Amino acid sequence: MRTTRRGISRLTAGAAVAFSLLVSSLAVGLARAEGATKLAQDMMGPGMMGPMHRNMMQRMMGGALPPGIDPALLPEPDSAGARILQYYCVQCHNLPGPGMHTAAGWPPVLGRMNMRMRMMGGMMGGMMGVVAPSRIELDILLDYLQKHAQEPIDAAKYPDLNTQAGQAFSTSCVQCHALPDPRQHTAQEWPAVVGRMRGHEAAMGKFVPDKTTTAEIIDFLRRHGRTRE
Ligand code: HEC
Ligand code: HEC
Repeated sequence: MRTTRRGISRLTAGAAVAFSLLVSSLAVGLARAEGATKLAQDMMGPGMMGPMHRNMMQRMMGGALPPGIDPALLPEPDSAGARILQYYCVQCHNLPGPGMHTAAGWPPVLGRMNMRMRMMGGMMGGMMGVVAPSRIELDILLDYLQKHAQEPIDAAKYPDLNTQAGQAFSTSCVQCHALPDPRQHTAQEWPAVVGRMRGHEAAMGKFVPDKTTTAEIIDFLRRHGRTRE
């Protein structure tokens, strides 16, 4: 994996490489294995049907789709993994963040998404213009998602999960992903993260705790947050 990553950064080194260039250079390697049609598709970027298709999907199945994250909030936004995510994973829905699943949870989800891309890029490819990542790109992407995945809490270390605040946290924050380890953020960072989660709750039609409960949850997280970076 290491070698692969270095290989890719060498390919793209020097220039202030626009993302499309990175993908084209990845596509060169991939075209060797998968043929020139794929390369042509990749050079054009995801098909023109993209935005329309995405909006339609979002309307039809919003609750099952990632609520989306601002690309600026992605960890290591300039890494190959983040770029691959931003290229392939917005063809049908909003940009998914790596914190949506644990490291163990990502492989089956990524496998399912890859199957969807291959199906839609194959038979219906001409129409929908969906492109699928190469095996190398998938490996880099899985590495990235797992490196920055949701870190589940070790409940045994938090006896106060039984308190009112602990219960508010446990019930609210397990609705979409594993219950998060509070040490993933500092006390300073938690309020903004919880604020973003409220947006996701609204977007996905989940339960949104009221102001008092939210304050309790934030208190709980701040109390157990990391002390330093
Ligand atoms: C061809 C269309 C398509 C593409 C491209 C696509 N997805 Fe999805 N995605 C879907 C559909 C449809 C759903 C809802 C049904 C489901 O979960 O399978 C979904 C749901 C999701 C979910 C929420 C459901 C869950 O299990 O967490 C995540 C996370 C996700 N996709 C991640 C990704 C990632 C990462 C990529 C890029 C590798 C990606 N998707 C690319 C179609 C797509
Ligand atoms: C409605 C679904 C939903 C609920 C409920 C939810 N989350 Fe999330 N969470 C997400 C999604 C989607 C992501 C990935 C996108 C992102 O990072 O914003 C995420 C990512 C995260 C991350 C990793 C990203 C980061 O910035 O560290 C943490 C930590 C997190 N959630 C904590 C929480 C906490 C704490 C709660 C309860 C207050 C909570 N989540 C409730 C959907 C949810």
